[in-house]
Formats: sequence, C-alpha cells, structure tokens
Amino acid sequence: MATSSEIAVLCSQAPVILPSVLQCDYSNLEREIHRFEEAGVKGFHLDVMDGNFVPNLSFGFPVIEAFRRVTELPLDVHLMISNPEKYVSRYVDAGADIVTVHAEVLEDPRPLLDEIRNLGALAGLAINPPTPVETIASAFNSCDLILTMSVMPGFGGQVFDDLALEKLRWLRGEAPDAVILEVDGGVNEQTIADCVEAGASALVVGSAITGQADYTPCLAQLNTLARRGL
Ligand code: DX5
Ligand code: ZN
Repeated sequence: MATSSEIAVLCSQAPVILPSVLQCDYSNLEREIHRFEEAGVKGFHLDVMDGNFVPNLSFGFPVIEAFRRVTELPLDVHLMISNPEKYVSRYVDAGADIVTVHAEVLEDPRPLLDEIRNLGALAGLAINPPTPVETIASAFNSCDLILTMSVMPGFGGQVFDDLALEKLRWLRGEAPDAVILEVDGGVNEQTIADCVEAGASALVVGSAITGQADYTPCLAQLNTLARRGL
C-alpha cells in the first residue's frame, strides 16, 4: 500500500487529477504506469467492472496487484460491482489504498464503509447520476471520499452530465470538510474547471488523457485548467 503520508499528500493537493486507466495500453502495463508517473500523476483510479452492476467487464485483483508491484502511488479502486461486501478485503490485500463502493447496491452502506476503514484503506461511496445525493447523507461520517458519477458507469469516453455539478455544490455545503469529493466521467478540458468550482477535489480523467499520444502536456494543461476553478 501507499504510505499514509503519500495518501495525505494526495488529499492535500486538491484539486488532484487521477487518471482512469480503463483505456490504456495493457500490452505493456509497466511502461504505461511509468508514462503516467513521468507526467506527474499523484495516484491512479482503477475501474473494476463485473458485467452485472454495469454492462461491461474490465479487470480484477491481478491487475490491482500488478499496479501495486510497479508503483508506490496511491491506488483509488472504484468497484462497479454488485456484491462489494464479498470482495473488499481482497481488494485491500491486492493493494488498494482507497476502495469505493456504490450506494445503489447497499441498503445501508455504513457497515461496509466501516469495514473498509478497519482494513486500513480509505472508504469511498459512489452515486450514479439518477441517485439523489441526499440519500447518502446518513453515511457521511463513514466516508473518506464521495464519488459523484457524471456519466452512467461502464464505459469511458461518455459525455459529462451537468447534474453532477449541482450534487457537488450540495456536498461541499453538507458533507464534512475532510471528505474528498471526487467526480468521474466525461471530465476533460471543457468540464474540469466547472467541477473544481463546484467543489470537486479529486478529478478522474480517462479518455481525455489516454487518448493523447503524450500524457505530460495533457496533464499539465488539465492541471492549469483545474486550478482556474479554485
Ligand atoms: C466509467 C468509469 C470512469 C471512466 C472515465 O464507468 O468509472 O472512470 O473510465 O473515463 P472518461 O474520463 O473517458 O469518461
Ligand atoms: Zn471510475
């Protein structure tokens, strides 16, 4: 796992961009990880999909373990799966520093979030675009991170839904200050400043980075634009 100081750095450097590696080159993962590190990323966002909660499959424990072997940066694992309670401990064992589960599959997310914390990782709670943000208020005290989805999860490269901005503004006012507010889906050069202005402190960016030949200028430009939202 990343050390607690690396995670503290991650949390303190808001707004921080976390690349979603869903569409990166898996034929040479180590080289891809180094390309992101050389571009200056502060952590990785890893999208786990089960073909049930979302209509797509991605990867599971072996890929998380591979990232853990190659990088010391924090790993932010987004579980888009139907039965997260069965698997969270294995994702922490695999090297996840942040484990995010979806509110839509949990009647009461608090016990699982508390379990994630007890396992030594940060606990994240995600909501899809149709899920009203007020429904997770009772779980705030069990959350280290709240993930507002700005697309329906399952695929990279979709169009940002502005409804996420309203949710972020509400969360900035209502959630404890220490909670990391993350946004995921369609974040790019056009939308990133609005996300920060609305209160996001962690910005997941997939295709807007992995679609570029050189990650370094792309990340620099996204960082500049993100800071305009402060
Ligand atoms: C969507 C995933 C996202 C996605 C982001 O299901 O959770 O992390 O890969 O990709 P872009 O930035 O291309 O929308
Ligand atoms: Zn994600």
